[in-house]
Amino acid sequence: MATPSNAPVATENRETWTSNTGFILAAVGSAVGLGNIWRFPGVAYESGGGAFMIPYLCALLTAGIPILFLDYAIGHRYRAAAPLAYRRIRKPAEALGWFQILLSFVIAVYYAAVIAWAMSYFVFAFDLSWGQDTLAFFVGDYLQVGDPEISTTIVPGIAIPLVITWVAVLIAIALGVAKGVEKVNVLFIPLLFVAFIGLVIRALTLPGALDGLTEFFTPDWAALGDLDVWIAAYSQIFFSLSIAFGIMVTYASFQRRKANMTSSGLVVAFANSSFELLAGIGVFATLGFMAHQQSTQVSELEGLTGPILSFVTFPAVINEMPGGTIFGVVFFASLIMAGFTSIISILLGVAASVGEKFGLGWRTSAVSVSAVCAVLSIGLFSTTSGLIALDTVDQFANNVGIVLSAIVMTVLLVWVYRRGELLRQHLNAVSTFKVGKWWIVLIGFVGPVFLVIMLVQKLVSLVSEGYEGYPGWYVGLFGWGTVVFVIVMAAILTAIPWKGRDQADFRPWPELEEEHR
Ligand code: PFF
Repeated sequence: MATPSNAPVATENRETWTSNTGFILAAVGSAVGLGNIWRFPGVAYESGGGAFMIPYLCALLTAGIPILFLDYAIGHRYRAAAPLAYRRIRKPAEALGWFQILLSFVIAVYYAAVIAWAMSYFVFAFDLSWGQDTLAFFVGDYLQVGDPEISTTIVPGIAIPLVITWVAVLIAIALGVAKGVEKVNVLFIPLLFVAFIGLVIRALTLPGALDGLTEFFTPDWAALGDLDVWIAAYSQIFFSLSIAFGIMVTYASFQRRKANMTSSGLVVAFANSSFELLAGIGVFATLGFMAHQQSTQVSELEGLTGPILSFVTFPAVINEMPGGTIFGVVFFASLIMAGFTSIISILLGVAASVGEKFGLGWRTSAVSVSAVCAVLSIGLFSTTSGLIALDTVDQFANNVGIVLSAIVMTVLLVWVYRRGELLRQHLNAVSTFKVGKWWIVLIGFVGPVFLVIMLVQKLVSLVSEGYEGYPGWYVGLFGWGTVVFVIVMAAILTAIPWKGRDQADFRPWPELEEEHR
């Protein structure tokens, strides 16, 4: 195992996870994140409650797990971060790798802002300093939100935890795969599961908890006929499992050559969805308590999704809960741990990609990439227009960018380069859980068909209705601009001649007949 000094980001003598468990914990750490805690419960509730489980499970089985396997197969066979792994399949495919890595880079830039908020709220929780009007506190006192505009007014309360977040990310990455990223996950993931189970148990013992669960699980069957609900399920699965972002390709590239890939994938997918469900139960039990306190129904409550749920509604509930301080401290600590283990996966992917392309040392690329991210995060998201920018970028990156990425990836590999059978054989050669031909049908046919329908529907609605009533120029700049930025930068990075060692003579392992067809 190479040491994480400033040696070049290598492909032979590549640093590896110390064990399969280390890899699984790291992959679970990437998957379980803010998406599980603040995204899933609200999305599920808005999209049919209990009935959402049907599109969710369909998305998991037809696209989530198959594409997770695809990511693993590419990274593990071609032993490089996404751009070089794709380049080893066919040179021009490098562009797809950059497209995916740039998308995750964009996500990291705003994801860090939410971790920074969680850090502040972790501190606030000790004396409930958000006061009684938690909405006014979050939007006004804390974020100091203004209009959708380009603001240059930096809010120190956000900028300071943001700097701390980026320094911590940098340290974890610079220490390397085994000594940095894996160690963080080995420590935080068990801790996170224990802390979160504690929170859920506490929530379930609150008066009104059952009403909350009933609300969450009562199916609205009509929702199943709504295409938007299906879109929500698929994008939730992509975001939540961290797939089609080039990140799982990179993680798999640090696995030893003999490693059971598909079985690990099943464990990761199962752990991620269980955590997601657990978060839904915990959140709705807590909301049931809130409705009970206010003698109203959960359906009458407002602010059940996204940042508002964690940073406005939860603080309000914590105010009223016996032992609220402990609950609050543990809740925000969980958000920080979940978010941190996910953001380091992204930065590892970006740093490894840049290092391989430009022939940089591990630390040099970690420092340069983190510095760029930190400057962008602070400049864009610690200003008074941060919340709105974040919401717009999130919408476009996750509902347009990642869907496009998954379509291009599956169509290119299965139909254009015809690597489906090869990658299937690769997975089967190393794993105990064997994948049948059904896998190729899913990634080559079922997945892309669903995804194209979704993308078209989403594009039509964004073009015709705009987004959230924000001004056209603003959505153009931050929304469409994000997609254009990612595409243009991917083209530029691909056009730059490869400076690191791309080892045109690289030999995939194990030797498979299919490779030479
Ligand atoms: N899966 C993470 C979550 O659920 O919060 C977010 C994420 C991590 C998305 C890594 C993309 C990624 F590459």
